[in-house]
Amino acid sequence: MNWPTHGSNPHYLYKAAGIRQPEQIYDFSANINPLGPPKSLWKNWGDFFQEIVYYPDPKATSLRKKLAEREGLHKDQVFIGNGGAEIISLIGKWLTGKRVMIIEPSFSEYEQACRVNECSISYFFIDHNGKIDVPHLSEELTDQDALFLCNPNNPTGIYFEKQVIEQILTTCSEKKCYLIVDEAFYDFVDAYQPLVPLLNQFPNLILIRSMTKMYAIPGVRLGYMMADAEIVQALQNQQSHWSVNGIALKAGERCLDEKHYVEQTRLFVRKERERLFRTFRKHRFDFLPSAVNFYLLRDSSMEDQSIFFHFLLKEGIVPRHTYNFPGIEGKWLRFAIRSEKENDILLEVMEKWRAIHQSSL
Ligand SMILES: Cc1ncc(COP(=O)(O)O)c(C=O)c1O
Repeated sequence: MNWPTHGSNPHYLYKAAGIRQPEQIYDFSANINPLGPPKSLWKNWGDFFQEIVYYPDPKATSLRKKLAEREGLHKDQVFIGNGGAEIISLIGKWLTGKRVMIIEPSFSEYEQACRVNECSISYFFIDHNGKIDVPHLSEELTDQDALFLCNPNNPTGIYFEKQVIEQILTTCSEKKCYLIVDEAFYDFVDAYQPLVPLLNQFPNLILIRSMTKMYAIPGVRLGYMMADAEIVQALQNQQSHWSVNGIALKAGERCLDEKHYVEQTRLFVRKERERLFRTFRKHRFDFLPSAVNFYLLRDSSMEDQSIFFHFLLKEGIVPRHTYNFPGIEGKWLRFAIRSEKENDILLEVMEKWRAIHQSSL
């Protein structure tokens, strides 16, 4: 089956599954903020519009400065990209022909970016609880130039605490290996422990962040990287001129002022996550203890979730399949946390499934 490689754009998924798309569907496959973009983006949209008649600042100086100030870094340690996806792609180019390890299952773009740049790729798998066996990883991490780690991890939603990252980083440092931590969902984590202070101590640390998840602007495309100034320069040399558009630059600056909105989001997501998990527990669905706005779930009475997946699609519920996540291929489904109403509809459909499939438990 030729499954789409990412969430969102559900019509591709229905086509691949050979199921007629119901008139009303609920898309749980894209994990962006269920509250939508901050209101200030709507309000200032007219001002952003003015930007379209100018070429954007190719150095994104204003946004870089603002980010650097917020994070306590020098602006030369900050790189702005056309979404985290562009940054991953540029890192892949920068690593051309190198030996790269990826902690799996994880976001598929790391492998894609490294593969097209002829890296030699190896994998390290998290355990069944979504954790990393650090001593084992240290043993496996021989002769690698770079290690990719997603934290919190997509698709599991599991957050690795700073202490774990520090252990991995120390090992990487001893082995002269870059550690690339993708923090695309860091701002959804309640007890997030910043890794930025480690940047000045460890020049082999690279942090990637996306602004499209928290601020619900995947159509605008904006992300940033924080790393040693030499790495920032190397990526800048590879990036197409004017790659980040003027609307994204302005919207990005506006989003950085939205501290209350971020807190509100975290509160909402936590409340909904706890509510959903209570019901899943009651109906004996298996799920991983996510720290973010998405989670993995399965009906543990079946190894492959394909029957459950097809049932949900027919009911208009669109989860993210996991066929292209190494290590869990098809054994779980990933759901975004959506609005209260959409989550209610999801729970109704889950209960309907459970009523039909009670006997197999
Ligand atoms: C873990 C992770 N990193 C990076 C990205 C890229 O995000 P964007 O390019 O929208 O910033 C995604 C998108 O799904 C993701 O899941």
